Amino acid sequence: MTVAPLTFLWQIWLTLAHAYVPHPVRLTGHPRFDWHNLATADNLNFSPCYDEFECARLSLPLDWHNASSPHNISLAVIMLRAVVPQSHPSHGGSVIVNPGGPGGSGVLYALSAARKLQTLLDGPQHYDIISFDPRGVLYSQPNAYCFDEAIESEIWYLEKRAAGGLNASEAALRYSWAAEIGRGRLCATNKGGIFSDGINIRNHLSTAYTARDTLELVFQLDDVELSGAKHATQGVLSETRVPKIQYMGTSYGTFLGETFAALYPEHVGRMVLDSNIDADNFVSRHEASVDDHEAICSYFFERCYAGGEKCAFWRTSDRGAGDIQARYEVLLSTVRHEPVSYTGAGHTSVITFEDLVDGWFMTLYQPAQFFPLFAQFLDALYEARDLPYPFWHHALNLPGYADEAILAHILQNSEISAAVHCSDGPDLTSSNVSSFQDWLSNLTTRFPNAGALQAEWKLSCFTLPASLRPQWRYDGPFSATVPILFVNNRLDPVTPLKSAKKMATQYDGSSVLVQDSVGHGALLPGGECMWNHVKRYMQTGRLPKDGTVCEVPCEPFDEGC
Ligand SMILES: *[C@@H]1O[C@H](CO)[C@@H](O)[C@H](O)[C@H]1NC(C)=O
Ligand SMILES: *[C@@H]1O[C@H](CO)[C@@H](O)[C@H](O)[C@H]1NC(C)=O
Ligand SMILES: *[C@@H]1O[C@H](CO)[C@@H](O)[C@H](O)[C@H]1NC(C)=O
Ligand SMILES: *[C@@H]1O[C@H](CO)[C@@H](O)[C@H](O)[C@H]1NC(C)=O
Ligand SMILES: *[C@@H]1O[C@H](CO)[C@@H](O)[C@H](O)[C@H]1NC(C)=O
Repeated sequence: MTVAPLTFLWQIWLTLAHAYVPHPVRLTGHPRFDWHNLATADNLNFSPCYDEFECARLSLPLDWHNASSPHNISLAVIMLRAVVPQSHPSHGGSVIVNPGGPGGSGVLYALSAARKLQTLLDGPQHYDIISFDPRGVLYSQPNAYCFDEAIESEIWYLEKRAAGGLNASEAALRYSWAAEIGRGRLCATNKGGIFSDGINIRNHLSTAYTARDTLELVFQLDDVELSGAKHATQGVLSETRVPKIQYMGTSYGTFLGETFAALYPEHVGRMVLDSNIDADNFVSRHEASVDDHEAICSYFFERCYAGGEKCAFWRTSDRGAGDIQARYEVLLSTVRHEPVSYTGAGHTSVITFEDLVDGWFMTLYQPAQFFPLFAQFLDALYEARDLPYPFWHHALNLPGYADEAILAHILQNSEISAAVHCSDGPDLTSSNVSSFQDWLSNLTTRFPNAGALQAEWKLSCFTLPASLRPQWRYDGPFSATVPILFVNNRLDPVTPLKSAKKMATQYDGSSVLVQDSVGHGALLPGGECMWNHVKRYMQTGRLPKDGTVCEVPCEPFDEGC
């Protein structure tokens, strides 16, 4: 079973499992916009949308390497304009943001987070915030969903969940294997993402393609800015101007940034990468991501003990964090043999051992927000009281604003995510179930808590048909002489600090800025210290000293956190 998406705060993406990075920014009842009525054009032609935004659809070649390929994609782009016009001296240009995934929607991310990001970045300079749905995703066309209907995809997922996690039993593993083989075939043959002549978008879906799409966006934005600036400066512009990106990427978005910087170093202006992926590892089997995980597990027990009665799972008799951990382990082994059920608000579902492990895993993404909730859940479970809502379940908790398209995006995203990260990774399509099992047991030995979830995330890459391999993937070298600002939490369940440190050595002149906290995502919400460094870098290019640490004002269960 995989980690379930948290749809009530799902704008930034997890790099592991079938899930979203929980994120405090909520998208509540945003106004609607009909993308179909917006013409797709060869240049960026922005029209007003969603009240305060502007949207455009950009036509780009499906295949960047074949001039005779007739197919184009339509890229959905969204912009929140700076508080000053482009001709104003304090206009700092545009900042392209990516929320991660792979498969995260930049449009939905912008709707929920662009205003906040813009405000945090605002200083002497003011920026347009730009984002886009990467090819295959939501408002970019065509989509790369495999099932016709979101509900069918959800049934596939729930059946797999009920069969048990990969680590549960041989039977559960065989079930998942068969389910994934079936879905892979569907992706190869069903109509979603397949052009009339049989060309499948999945052969042109990898981070390399998205990086190239992003470069085109940089050129187009430069054209738009040039035409504005010409107006202001009577055309005193250098002929040799090289458009440069200003970019902020989170989670998988760091891999997109690393790929862009490796492929197009001359086009990098500023790049802030938050919660970093080890690119070399990502294009292999992406095992390094959970390195911090075991260390983070103890953080919950430590904080719960420090929080005392603010932590519902704490008991007056506790003599240390170890007592809380022991209680948790008793609970886990009980639930392994005796699943329990949650019932409430018109819903019921079963909490199994693996489900609790999923919840635990999700909890570590946003400690400040989820530790108290998870403690309440454990307390109720331990005392055999009615359980509170298992906040990591998604099917019961779809957001009210989700129309059909957004619903498909939420429920079917793993179909796109797998297409992209499997393309980025090595060709595993000729593997058999026993070679997968060997790898699984290697992972669960090294990472008892997170190994099976990590393997689950990669499972589709072993089962996809070979015909879905990408025509273009970039697997390194991931290096360049471009000063990037890498930011990372001290401990992160899926993007450990050591990846940021490693990548910083590969991009000459870069620095790592550490936030002394735990969780996935350092900048949203990030403290003033973090943002002051980011703002100064964006404005002047000056990086903090490598290894600079920003303290955090409080930790989970502290007063006011
Ligand atoms: C380029 O596209 C054309 C038209 O679809 C196709 O016939 C040709 O095989 C493609 N070339 C390559 C190298 O993929
Ligand atoms: C794809 O875009 C190119 C360049 O704009 C255009 O010439 C071509 O007609 C488009 N192809 C299709 C099938 O729309
Ligand atoms: C599975 O694959 C491995 C290595 O790729 C091979 O050595 C083994 O014989 C295969 N097993 C079966 C049952 O086909
Ligand atoms: C896991 O695999 C790696 C190489 O793929 C190997 O070096 C390591 O010893 C293995 N670990 C275990 C516990 O099997
Ligand atoms: C996975 O299986 C191993 C071996 O049976 C066990 O030690 C470990 O606790 C299991 N982990 C999870 C998360 O199920």
